[in-house]
Amino acid sequence: MSNAASFGIHDLSFATTEYVLSHAALAEYNGTEIGKYHIGIGQRSMSVCAADEDIVTLGAAAAAPIIARHGSERIRTVVFATESSIDQAKSAGIYVHSLLGLQSACRVVELKQACYGATAALQFAIGLVRRDPDQQVLVIASDVSKYELDSPGEATQGAAAVAMLVSADPALVCIENASGLFTADVMDFWRPNYRTTALVDGQESVEAYLQAVAGSWKDYGEQGGRTLDEFAAFCYHQPFTKMAYKAHRHLLNHAGHSADQADIEHAIGQTVAYNTSIGNSYTASVYLALAALLDQADDLTDRPIGFLSYGSGSVAEFFAGTAVPGYREHLRTAANLAAIARRKPVDHARYRELHEWSFPADGGDHPTPQQTTGPFRLAGVSGHKRIYQAR
Ligand code: HMG
Repeated sequence: MSNAASFGIHDLSFATTEYVLSHAALAEYNGTEIGKYHIGIGQRSMSVCAADEDIVTLGAAAAAPIIARHGSERIRTVVFATESSIDQAKSAGIYVHSLLGLQSACRVVELKQACYGATAALQFAIGLVRRDPDQQVLVIASDVSKYELDSPGEATQGAAAVAMLVSADPALVCIENASGLFTADVMDFWRPNYRTTALVDGQESVEAYLQAVAGSWKDYGEQGGRTLDEFAAFCYHQPFTKMAYKAHRHLLNHAGHSADQADIEHAIGQTVAYNTSIGNSYTASVYLALAALLDQADDLTDRPIGFLSYGSGSVAEFFAGTAVPGYREHLRTAANLAAIARRKPVDHARYRELHEWSFPADGGDHPTPQQTTGPFRLAGVSGHKRIYQAR
């Protein structure tokens, strides 16, 4: 057994969809002034799934480069965090485990608490690798965000998966022990089992998020956390990127700091590049913020990064990580930019068709049209079973 002193994110890779809808196209269709999208909520485009993509194909595509780089011998746990689950019983992670050819000596589970699930997965994973630092845990955060067509939430849809290899002596980010928690029973956003689209009270959800920021920060202080001015940057959950700015302003005010616009831009500005183009990827969003920060910031070695993970309903956690010396050699910046650039633009009519696509629930054979050019595809359903293919 190694004498590991630190635990955290050893590698991080993400994948997003085949298609993209620009907010300009959405605004042209629904008559919204484009400034509301570009400035008001801070979104430029949203990732849109092909008919043969889902949380499994995205999750497998995100994780495959990690397995290619590190192998899978040490992975004895896969935690799949999602709130857009495809089955009430079977973990989506088992399909990914199969597509990636992981060893059978492995536990695989799915975890849910709205957008917060991946942070629970990360913290649980750290607990496991602390117990046995020779093991690694593969955490996959994968979501497809869907609201009703023509609803206020529609402009905040998106889809992506982030895969993280959690290990002792990580190469990217050490996660610190102190962690601030906050749970409150609120109905700001939810999705009953019989619905494919989420229900949301938009303004209440923003308020609930801000309350959770203050609540988790308070607990973080009580748990011996760092002070605000120690942080180089803050990665917030970004249902839309403007929310990160709102949240940070709220935190600064709450903590009695001046909320100068330039300071807020400095703390948040480099975390939004991927989410502004991908949209809300729910569990993956806060880790896409981290990817954008690491890819764009000047050297962050040994600098603390604040994380605020929020999941409606609600649970929030504030915690900190520090970038590890040499982390820049392990980044996947070119691949990250390529994942965003490879998406094919769809017009509004095509987007609506894709939004309304679903499988009949009759147990028959229903192959999907070949649309995605990604490494994995959902080939169809047959006898109520989903069939996946690797290319
Ligand atoms: P809305 O009613 O469409 O928009 O809802 P609005 O009227 O509130 O306007 C939005 C902003 O645009 C405002 O700025 C306007 O002033 C501005 P703010 O006052 O907020 O600073 N605006 C303009 N700016 C420039 N030029 C213009 C212009 N016009 C207006 N011409 C809302 C917006 C976000 C509520 C809606 O999209 C929604 O319901 N989204 C879904 C819910 C959501 O994302 N909530 C966020 C917090 S909850 C969360 O993060 C959890 C979640 O990810 C789920 C999970 O945990 O699983 C959602």
